[in-house]
Amino acid sequence: MPRFVKMAVLDELPPGAAKEIEYEGRVYAIFNTDGVISAIDGICPHQGGPLADGAVTGTTVTCPWHGWQFDVQSGKTPLGSKIKQAVFEVKVEGQDVLVAVP
Ligand code: FES
Repeated sequence: MPRFVKMAVLDELPPGAAKEIEYEGRVYAIFNTDGVISAIDGICPHQGGPLADGAVTGTTVTCPWHGWQFDVQSGKTPLGSKIKQAVFEVKVEGQDVLVAVP
């Protein structure tokens, strides 16, 4: 059973917005892309850039440091299948955004 932790409220995440949260030593990046809330590991696997600070186009976030791109819903990147950002299940209960933590 995943453990869901409240990491945001919907008012903080209007469409197009992102939020970074640190919880138990891991950084999460939470996105709202056209009403779909998703959460991925917030640390870019290239050199540790903050993905929640990246520009989002469609469902793609571009790392603000050197431009690596990730799909914020699948964690996939056009760089190839060997690199995949961790994706975490999200539940919305009322105003609360809950993220499944490992
Ligand atoms: S740290 Fe993200 S692209 Fe380099």
